[in-house]
Amino acid sequence: MTRFGRFDDEAREYVISRPDTPLPWINYLGSEEFFGIISNTAGGYCFYRDARLRRLTRYRYDNVPTDTGGRFLYLRDAATGLFWSPSWQPVRGELEDYRCRHGLGYTVIGSRTVGIETETLYLVPLGEAMEIWRTRVCNRRDTSATLSLFGAVEFCLWDAWEDQTNYQRNLSIGEVAVVDGVVYHTTEYRERRNHFAYFACSEELAGFDTQRERFLGPYRGWDRPLVVENGRSNDSIAHGWAPIGAHHVELELAPGETREVVFLLGYGENPPDAKFHPPGSETTDIRGIRPVIERYLRVEEVESALARLREHWAGLLDVLQVSTPSEHVDRMVNVWNPYQCMATFNLSRSASSFDTGIGRGIGFRDSSQDLLGFVHMVPGRARERILDLAATQLPTGGAYHQYQPLTKRGNDAIGSGFNDDPLWLILAVAAYVRETGDRAILDEPVPYDNAPGSEAPLYEHLRRAMRYTLDRLGPHGLPLIGRADWNDCLNLNAFSEEPGESFQTVPNREGGVAESVFIAGQFALAAEELAQLSDLHGQADDAAAARAERARMIEAVRAHAWDGAWFRRAYDHVGEAVGSAENDEGQIWIEPQGICVMAGIGSDDGTAERALDSVAARLGTPHGLVLLDPPFSRYHLELGEISSYPPGYKENGGVFSHTNPWIVIADTTIDEADRAFQHYLRINPSAREDLSEIHRCEPYVYAQMIAGKAAPTHGEAKNSWLTGSAAWNLVAITQWILGIRPEHAGLRIDPCLPSAWDGFTAVRRYRGATYRITIHKQSGVTGRIRALSVDGREVEGTLVPLVPEGRDVTVEGTVA
Ligand code: GLC
Ligand code: GLC
Repeated sequence: MTRFGRFDDEAREYVISRPDTPLPWINYLGSEEFFGIISNTAGGYCFYRDARLRRLTRYRYDNVPTDTGGRFLYLRDAATGLFWSPSWQPVRGELEDYRCRHGLGYTVIGSRTVGIETETLYLVPLGEAMEIWRTRVCNRRDTSATLSLFGAVEFCLWDAWEDQTNYQRNLSIGEVAVVDGVVYHTTEYRERRNHFAYFACSEELAGFDTQRERFLGPYRGWDRPLVVENGRSNDSIAHGWAPIGAHHVELELAPGETREVVFLLGYGENPPDAKFHPPGSETTDIRGIRPVIERYLRVEEVESALARLREHWAGLLDVLQVSTPSEHVDRMVNVWNPYQCMATFNLSRSASSFDTGIGRGIGFRDSSQDLLGFVHMVPGRARERILDLAATQLPTGGAYHQYQPLTKRGNDAIGSGFNDDPLWLILAVAAYVRETGDRAILDEPVPYDNAPGSEAPLYEHLRRAMRYTLDRLGPHGLPLIGRADWNDCLNLNAFSEEPGESFQTVPNREGGVAESVFIAGQFALAAEELAQLSDLHGQADDAAAARAERARMIEAVRAHAWDGAWFRRAYDHVGEAVGSAENDEGQIWIEPQGICVMAGIGSDDGTAERALDSVAARLGTPHGLVLLDPPFSRYHLELGEISSYPPGYKENGGVFSHTNPWIVIADTTIDEADRAFQHYLRINPSAREDLSEIHRCEPYVYAQMIAGKAAPTHGEAKNSWLTGSAAWNLVAITQWILGIRPEHAGLRIDPCLPSAWDGFTAVRRYRGATYRITIHKQSGVTGRIRALSVDGREVEGTLVPLVPEGRDVTVEGTVA
């Protein structure tokens, strides 16, 4: 099998060894306000806070050749006229010794051509709104070399949607200013914008260009710019058309000599009423940004920015480090899975190779679930995220499906009335309070729909979230599904017949009784979480009420959702069963099995075991568990988008990775240790590295889906990076298989380990203390904790009680 790279576990990097990966294998730069997507050939784009509204550079999705567009570097050898891109794209010439190291918040791409070695470090420094490219060029020849180095970017006219659609305007508005060799992109600054972009270079310039056509030459692409071919810049100034920044540096390198050149691509902002200098002029005031540019153009500053970044990431990952018998577990848990969770925190579903940054903003259900995967690393920011999400809740307890990161305002742009949405907030808040113990968040005043004056304590928001479900029950006492539940594509009220109509926004047919078993299970889970929060909050009556509602919901599931060998999925608009042996297609669905068992339904009457056996038998494949079986072979008006996908893809019977860890968790609750681990490992990206030619997506992060058994391309992944799979897989492996689980009263240590393991060790920082955990187990057996000691003293059960901050606690457990 062909691999395209390898993990460097020590360096916490993935090292890609050839540029023509099956798909662009990307990384993210930035962790606060300024972000970039960078592929292994330096493709991608960057933006300030909002991938739609503040995009700095242009990127054309699904372009040909793949991933053209991004951070352009060219070298030209004056002696021969040969030119190439040291990151391979866009020229795609012959390179020796190409390698790309994707690290935590930085990427390094290097190669050698005709004796010239180049290595570029790309990063976004903490606390700054810029990306740095530091290029080292070394002459390995035994004669001197005369080279031209070009660095170039194509500016986006800020709003990425307008930028790709409104050409009657766009081609006339582009403006730039070049001051002391720095290119400032100032389109629309003359009117309502108070921000600009800049592109700077550390070296004296031999020339520059800012008009795309002058740089490329007529009818040419980025792979063969005329300026690069000729080695001569035009010093062009863009008036309209397509503003770019292109710097031209001449390098004279003696044998063995290395030079370092720094490029900066950044974002600057001025107060709206003090944008121009001198006052009264139309000249962009750059006095504030100049010192920042000067600082980071210095090579020493780049080094220290990298050092700070490494420290930052080490601090985040230190919260949990494990050592287990599986290298796939270790590298995912210690590095890549939490790293991906931070990407989902930062970007929700907005900007990846598959999400254009235009459509989806911060999702209510998505970010609530993502929080489960990052709350332990950035509790303070998780708190802020919870409050932002809750502020987009509606007075009914329902919620906007998404909000725009720049404005934090909820909107209906991608639909409304997904009846699962509000319940996720309860699970997020519960996870936050278990991790931090910060009950005060429940008293935090939060508005509804961002309306000033509507503030109510967060606790009340959670009560309304639960009420929202109870106010919308169907004839079986199960929750009405609304537009859809977690499965966006199960649209039981849409009845869409118009080609191209969005299932997410089409007006729904009134008068139906479509109910969701998934929401029923989710409710049972959330009601117990809310009851525990009510107890903490001193509201015993609320706790009792939540538990009573939970019991009623479980009764409804038992009475109306058990199909004989698994839980049904739903009842449709007219009350017919969905996900039943009675159906021809879509007989068994994964979601209700996972969520119901996770909620504790069926553990007392054997139905949990039955359901999970059915999952393994009917949904299991070597590439993970498919979402449903058999997939729908034709379009079902009464089911909606799910049946619009070809069989085996996406929700229609793909391995929808997000749902697999639910089954892993469910299996651990019924002691199916080996099966749980097998389900986990099958979609673990590192364990799939040897299948890279089939899997095709990055082997260091989860992809939303892997084509299912009905698909001709079974095993092929799509939609990597921004997926709830990241959070849920991290929860499944760390909290349920390794069993290290924050609870309100302490740290639960309750592993459910595969028989082949002989234990593991872990260090977990939790509520200010450090827990050093060792679990002993004989290989060949499975079982649960039989003995647990804390600092040498035996404790009853599996809960390690809280200790004062700063303490170092030794925990030893024996599984038998
Ligand atoms: C995507 C969406 C998520 C949804 C899932 C299932 O991952 O981001 O919100 O739950 O698909 O349809
Ligand atoms: C489509 C996708 C689904 C996603 C939704 C978001 O339905 O299949 O995964 O959640 O779009 O709008």
